[in-house]
Amino acid sequence: MSSPLQIAILLSGRGSNFQAILNNCLNGTLNATISCVFSNKPEAKGLETATANQIDTIAISPNDFPNFDDYEKAVLTELQKYPIDLVVCAGYMRILGPTLLNAFPNKIINIHPSLLPKFKGLNAQKQALEAGETEAGCTVHYVNDELDGGPIILQKKVPVLENDTVESLSDRILEQEHIAYSEAIQQLINQGG
Ligand code: GRF
Repeated sequence: MSSPLQIAILLSGRGSNFQAILNNCLNGTLNATISCVFSNKPEAKGLETATANQIDTIAISPNDFPNFDDYEKAVLTELQKYPIDLVVCAGYMRILGPTLLNAFPNKIINIHPSLLPKFKGLNAQKQALEAGETEAGCTVHYVNDELDGGPIILQKKVPVLENDTVESLSDRILEQEHIAYSEAIQQLINQGG
């Protein structure tokens, strides 16, 4: 078996997608290792999960820098201390700028709670409900300089039910996100990383 794919996780909050990926790394479903977890929010719950699992954490707030590029340069300096084959955005609520994009060309992926190209940006589940969709879902895609616009790796669909609220639909999509993200990473591993 080839050596495990080294993953850096970028997150901003809860970190349930990170947890799902970690579970699959630990139970051997995914031939991957999480080398570090970065957050732009020092209080992110996902950082606690990382620490509880003996995974190195990095927290840097953009507010501590005069501009976004200086922030990203600081993030990159820290990330470069780790072996990284793939950068996995898991609820990282910042756009990626040229500094990070150029440092990891075609090596940054994201998960978005809609069937892209529909409903880019924030509140995707609410957007789907308001548009009267009968089907929603999630998309794992490469990150490029277009918001939620990079090439699609994998999608999973769920039905939109008549009485759905943003919360109930989000929960149904999130269940699929937890499956989809590891499947997409495994797909990339099978393709050679
Ligand atoms: C997920 O819905 C993901 O699709 C979106 O942000 C949310 C993150 O959730 N990009 P979690 O932090 O992984 O629980």
